[in-house]
Amino acid sequence: MKYINKSFSIEKVKAQNLAKKFNTPIYCYSYKLLKENINNFKKNFKSFSPLICFAVKANTNVNIIREIGKLGLGADVVSIGELMKALKAGINPKKIVFSGVGKTVDEISYAIDKKILLINAESKSEIIEIEKIAKSKKKIINIGIRLNPNTDAKTLTQISTGKKENKFGVDKKTFFELVKYSKNSKNIKLKCLSVHIGSQIVNHIPYEKMLKVVNRIIKKTNYKFEFIDLGGGMGISYDNNNKKLNYKKYSIAIKKNLKTHKSKIIFEPGRSIVGNIGVLISKIIYIKENEKKDFIILDAAMNDLMRPALYGANHRTLPVLKTNQISKKTYQFVGPICESTDKFITLKKFQKLKEKDLIVMCDVGAYGMSLSSNYNVRPKPVEILIKGSKINVIKKRQKLSDLI
Ligand code: LLP
Repeated sequence: MKYINKSFSIEKVKAQNLAKKFNTPIYCYSYKLLKENINNFKKNFKSFSPLICFAVKANTNVNIIREIGKLGLGADVVSIGELMKALKAGINPKKIVFSGVGKTVDEISYAIDKKILLINAESKSEIIEIEKIAKSKKKIINIGIRLNPNTDAKTLTQISTGKKENKFGVDKKTFFELVKYSKNSKNIKLKCLSVHIGSQIVNHIPYEKMLKVVNRIIKKTNYKFEFIDLGGGMGISYDNNNKKLNYKKYSIAIKKNLKTHKSKIIFEPGRSIVGNIGVLISKIIYIKENEKKDFIILDAAMNDLMRPALYGANHRTLPVLKTNQISKKTYQFVGPICESTDKFITLKKFQKLKEKDLIVMCDVGAYGMSLSSNYNVRPKPVEILIKGSKINVIKKRQKLSDLI
């Protein structure tokens, strides 16, 4: 993503031309960045050749999942819908893990029929349910147990999952109990310890703490886990000053703490694979002057990109055509939805804008389209994947007639 002759471009395609051709808002992704992210991830963790399962919740476009699969990754899913999409995208079931606190009978049954690698259970009740279904199907099912290590991920509270007050996983005491229970079961085979302490983690220290807990617990259980699933959470840089997770340091910590167990490591990265590959292109409908700031009213809204309204997230916002004329006004970028939380970023010294100008919001490839909704009966945007100068529509814009 860069400016070519002052025109914001995704690989070799100008955002301006996409807007002309497809109208706005548009989710647009770069294949080159996707490939780079995956190669970079693989390279940094190469020494223990992990199984990398893309967390489908971050981006549920089947074509994106297919490209990720072709680049060698598996999938981490949390619902039957995500599992169906992963399978449709051609992901090998033997590379699929199923996470989540509330898997239903139908979901477990479907996962068993599709012969996926692991169902990562999060409670005793779930293990009993899996066992029951497995028994009725006369099968032995591979499971993991998700541990809640009670470690602070030092990220937003809304996206922390590894503290004891969070609903995820089981505490240490229950973990030991469930290992014992599983060992004695005829229809389940315990293969994995899984953890996931949160998302957008930019410092390796919380991971290090979690790894120490995992190490201690495995030693105490004295059980040979074929897999240790460390979840995802690797943070990316949302603005040029913010740091991202140092993979090397995380990798060293993993080796230090888990090497002796000789288990295969599984990762479930979402954001770090797709976060920076996507932009949301939007057009200014109106500019409304206000005493303290001008409201830049966009045709994209919180239903298209929820992260600012949900988490107060700021997405780097740039003009599609650069003019170098700076405005003296403060701009607040907002959507047309009837909610005061329907606002994006507030910026000073932005380029002078006028109505009908185009802007892009960056780093929306993860939890952008996948969190979108039809609130206010707004059709979902078109999704486009760019490969060099090739434009692929990977999901059509929803039609109003689909909604009414
Ligand atoms: N594995 C499990 C079990 C998870 O719950 C998650 C994310 C992941 C993997 C992938 O985490 P990642 O590598 O993407 O951080 N909507 C929020 C993020 C919610 C994350 C939920 N779980 C956001 O937009 O920031």
